[in-house]
Amino acid sequence: MRIVLLGPPGAGKGTQAKRLARRFGIDHIATGDIFRRNVQSGTELGALAKTYMDAGELVPDDVTVAMVSEAIKEAGRGYVLDGFPRTVAQGRALDEELAAMGRPLAGALALTIDDDAAVKRISGRRTCARCQRPYNVEFGPLRSAGVCDVCGGDLVQRPDDAEDVVRRRLEVYHQSTEPLLRFYSDRGLLREIDAAGTEDEVTERVVAALEELSSVGERS
Ligand code: AP5
Repeated sequence: MRIVLLGPPGAGKGTQAKRLARRFGIDHIATGDIFRRNVQSGTELGALAKTYMDAGELVPDDVTVAMVSEAIKEAGRGYVLDGFPRTVAQGRALDEELAAMGRPLAGALALTIDDDAAVKRISGRRTCARCQRPYNVEFGPLRSAGVCDVCGGDLVQRPDDAEDVVRRRLEVYHQSTEPLLRFYSDRGLLREIDAAGTEDEVTERVVAALEELSSVGERS
């Protein structure tokens, strides 16, 4: 199973991608996470990506496509792509790469949420600086404020989660990524999923959409 997860910042792509990866035993390829790991380890790619990420802009297509192409080759036969593609050019590049491998996508799932709800989710997001466990101070109560319940590490906010940067990321999503909805709908691969509600409710909708896509795939 090879799936693309689309959606604005804060829609819950990372949350749902991790759940799908666990449930179906597939890999989770998240471009934002790969860029952040490169920033942390001080690579040239990380230094380049940071200038774009901190401003809420997209990292250039050529750099991103080359990085994902490598990740796909290293992955198993099944994966969920979280945060890629983000432009129609990236979508075309992915199509060509998968066609050459003879391994097409099963579907593209777009999580939908309005901008204000997305900003609310993101403003509550914190990550443990030590063990990387995710938290949300808006939705998930912590045992002690500012400290990881599991390892006691400090909880930090992503630099690009400041509200002005989040608003810019949302604009970039509407301008550059939303055209991909048409791109995948024209190919019969798109399913839109309401991302409101609890994480479990969204997972149920995502799994139902995947089951429906796979039954369409079997019939055709
Ligand atoms: P990336 O890391 O991909 O960020 P994003 O797309 O902006 O998405 P987020 O991680 O903010 O949100 P999400 O949808 O994953 O939601 P999450 O599950 O965390 O990209 C960062 C940057 O990298 C980009 O701006 C760009 O610069 C660069 N980049 C990445 N990919 C690129 C590409 N392909 N091309 C070019 N540049 C690229 O949830 C958010 C919060 O809400 C969490 O706290 C979570 O706990 C909570 N939450 C989730 N679901 C629910 C729910 N149902 N109810 C309540 N809370 C919930």
